[in-house]
Amino acid sequence: MDFRIETERLVIRPLILTDYEAWKESHLSRPTAGNEYDKPGLTIDKLNLAEFEKRLSEAASNREKDLAYDYALFSKMQQKFLGSVILMRVHREIAHNCYLGYSVSPLFWGQGFGKEAVNAVIDFAFRHLKLHRVEAAIQLNNERSMRLARGVGMRHEGVRLRGLFLDNAWEDMNIYAVTSEERGIQHPGSCRAELD
Ligand SMILES: CC(C)(COP(=O)(O)OP(=O)(O)OC[C@H]1O[C@@H](n2cnc3c(N)ncnc32)[C@H](O)[C@@H]1OP(=O)(O)O)[C@@H](O)C(=O)NCCC(=O)NCCS
Repeated sequence: MDFRIETERLVIRPLILTDYEAWKESHLSRPTAGNEYDKPGLTIDKLNLAEFEKRLSEAASNREKDLAYDYALFSKMQQKFLGSVILMRVHREIAHNCYLGYSVSPLFWGQGFGKEAVNAVIDFAFRHLKLHRVEAAIQLNNERSMRLARGVGMRHEGVRLRGLFLDNAWEDMNIYAVTSEERGIQHPGSCRAELD
């Protein structure tokens, strides 16, 4: 399957070996986190080529096993590495669902890149990965992330009490979700989807 997605301003695809310098640079240029929900860039000891190769091989294995799909976002104009979107914990059988994670480097916040990328990846999940439901668990005060979720048509389904163990405590999580029908795609509902 071709995992490459193009939008108006972005190329969205798995990382490849030749992205090493851009990936390293993006971490070095964000030493501090943009807000309390953001992670700072990786420290220099985690930015060597061997570490990068390990990440690529784990991501390829996850795709192969239909467990997770890790996407890097590149701007078409400057070919800069802007962030990532991941579809993880894919569950087939009678669920065909997955969890969504996303992060944009704070240098590029507020320009609509997050929304553009997440929107396209959700579409890819429904059309090509034949998933039926995409869910995001968002910390209760993460306003930016909730606006993004609402902006791509995810519904607020409720609060999962003590849903995730984050920063040494169980945190309540806002659950946002969208199913394929809401994007006009009828899911076949088979037990094991045949991927294109
Ligand atoms: C969440 C995140 C990916 C958004 O990326 P982004 O590229 O800035 O997103 P966009 O520019 O597409 O904007 C998304 C929404 O946030 C809104 N927004 C911008 N600044 C905001 C602010 N200070 N407070 C609240 N919302 C804000 C935008 O207006 C937009 O909503 P709208 O379409 O209703 O106007 C980015 O902030 C990030 O990486 N945060 C840290 C990691 C994180 O929280 N990940 C999600 C975990 S669940």
